[in-house]
Amino acid sequence: MFLWNSSGLRRMSSWLRGNRLNYLPIRWIALLVAALGGAIVFYIFAVPQLLRLRFRAGLSWYDLGAQGLGPTKDYVSFDQESPIVEISPPGAQCDPRYTFLAPRGDSVAHPGPMILDSAGELVWTKWNGGTTQDFKVQRYKGEDFLTYWQGDTDDNYGRGLWYMLDSTYNQRHVVSPVGMYDGDLHEFHITANDTALLMIYDPIVVDLRSVGGPELGWIYDGVFQEVDLETGELLFQWRASDYYSPSDSYDPIGDTGTGRTSGYDYCHINSVDKDDQGRYLVSMRHLHTIACIDGTTGEVSWSLGGKKNDFTDASDGAATDFAWQHDARWRGPNRLSLFDNAAYTNDDPSAVSRGMIIDLDMNAQQATLVQSYDHPQDMMAVSQGNLQLLDTGNVLVGWGHSAAYTEFSPEGEVVCNVHFGASAFFTFGRVVSYRVFKFDWIGHPTSTPDATLTPDSVFVSWNGATEVAAWRVEAWDGVSLSNMTFSAVDEVSRSGFETEIPLVPEVVSFFRLRAIHANGDSLGVTGLLQRLPASAAGSSSRSSGYSWATWTIVIVAFGCLVCGVYFAVHRRLRGISRSIGPYQLVAYKEDEDEHNRLPL
Ligand SMILES: *[C@@H]1O[C@H](CO)[C@@H](O)[C@H](O)[C@H]1NC(C)=O
Ligand SMILES: *[C@@H]1O[C@H](CO)[C@@H](O)[C@H](O)[C@H]1NC(C)=O
Repeated sequence: MFLWNSSGLRRMSSWLRGNRLNYLPIRWIALLVAALGGAIVFYIFAVPQLLRLRFRAGLSWYDLGAQGLGPTKDYVSFDQESPIVEISPPGAQCDPRYTFLAPRGDSVAHPGPMILDSAGELVWTKWNGGTTQDFKVQRYKGEDFLTYWQGDTDDNYGRGLWYMLDSTYNQRHVVSPVGMYDGDLHEFHITANDTALLMIYDPIVVDLRSVGGPELGWIYDGVFQEVDLETGELLFQWRASDYYSPSDSYDPIGDTGTGRTSGYDYCHINSVDKDDQGRYLVSMRHLHTIACIDGTTGEVSWSLGGKKNDFTDASDGAATDFAWQHDARWRGPNRLSLFDNAAYTNDDPSAVSRGMIIDLDMNAQQATLVQSYDHPQDMMAVSQGNLQLLDTGNVLVGWGHSAAYTEFSPEGEVVCNVHFGASAFFTFGRVVSYRVFKFDWIGHPTSTPDATLTPDSVFVSWNGATEVAAWRVEAWDGVSLSNMTFSAVDEVSRSGFETEIPLVPEVVSFFRLRAIHANGDSLGVTGLLQRLPASAAGSSSRSSGYSWATWTIVIVAFGCLVCGVYFAVHRRLRGISRSIGPYQLVAYKEDEDEHNRLPL
């Protein structure tokens, strides 16, 4: 029996009609006000969000968010996730090297440095807790290191340290600036001379009246240092405020500049490079300027772009009109590359970010755009981003605030485009990576491989191990417990980050898994594993355990919702039935109601 029987409906409609007779004007006014309020709320809150969506013709289901805004895959033997990537165009011949990135954002559960293979499969990741940026491979004293910045971020800059891990993923060096400074997240560049270029955001007091700020105003000065990594000696230090003033900035001061912790970030250095002539190349995002700094005197040799631009533009403005840029690098004595963000807010949906290669003619003081690299979907990245020149001649662009990286031919044709988030929602920055790189890498973790058992199979992975070709199953021979001996009973090729190995009947109780190099060598072995009894079916698989718990919660919650609605409506109607009184148009029988009422 259900409550919405005919007499209930009759009473409902009669109540509505009765009320309408009396309260018609108030009702309409209330409705109008509510509609108007709703429209205003929609316009203020929903419209700007909708305008940020970048729906385009031909977006894949992945890019439309069908798998989530930042889709990830889980593992059975490993408790972190990795992005599910989408690679285009079909059959793309991506550079076979590993990809180095540091995904973070609201859709990233365990942000940290991450290595993916060229197909987007996880190779290594580490959950660092705080923010990790600028993860890459750098050579120091002839040895390859994984380097990254880690620390706390505060609006646009960071307070942290730089870390150097060796090929076993153990931390070998931690680097901090010289002096009482925090290390900023934007740059840690080891030069060919084993020195490091690193960056500081230093709050200092300046007169900000020229830009509408206080006389005793605060800025975050852009400072970079060159430090001898071996001795910790400070070799060079440069301050933006010695050469560029707040009035050179394009960044509106807003309500910043009033205190030490709310400095006006007028300059925003975000990359430093050095060439073998000893010249520094500095990108100052909020000045729209790339500057060449004399390595001895610190004087500005020239400025490209921005209010102090020294160059005429041989490309009709296209070589010098970059804005909010990142990652300026020397690519030759008179050639440089950069990532032109073109925008720093979502206010201008027509802005398009690009990678750029620029040639400078120092005699004619002229800049020429040699090549630009545009995303096939006209990407806009309001922050972050980088450009790496691969030794194949191809160019890798990391789209920073947009979860994508694209490999181009030297002529700007898209060779391989990888998304690690849904592109229709890129402007929301649910998944971002400050920079993205490709490198060769060989990792030999000192941890043991991770294995998780089900009754019929074992899932095995080894975070960071790059050379595992196969997993060998070694079963205990059952002779001695004090001196266990094992024999190989099976061997399964590694498949991606995690390999599921069905257990052969020879595995009766104890066994272990040995990681095998392509040349047959042993790379490592799991701890002792014990085959689960068949009765443990269902309880051991973590993922199915999750889904059962989830489904139970969903069903209970849905049940509660149905009950809640049911009782609310029931009580409401009972309340109505009592108050019908004078507005009753249809005969109402108390006993009929009694019969139809469900016990509470
Ligand atoms: C390395 O040191 C040499 C010799 O001092 C110098 O000429 C060169 O400019 C330095 N290179 C870099 C990148 O610092
Ligand atoms: C353990 O067994 C192996 C092979 O059966 C044998 O060579 C070795 O001496 C034994 N070790 C001990 C400590 O008994």
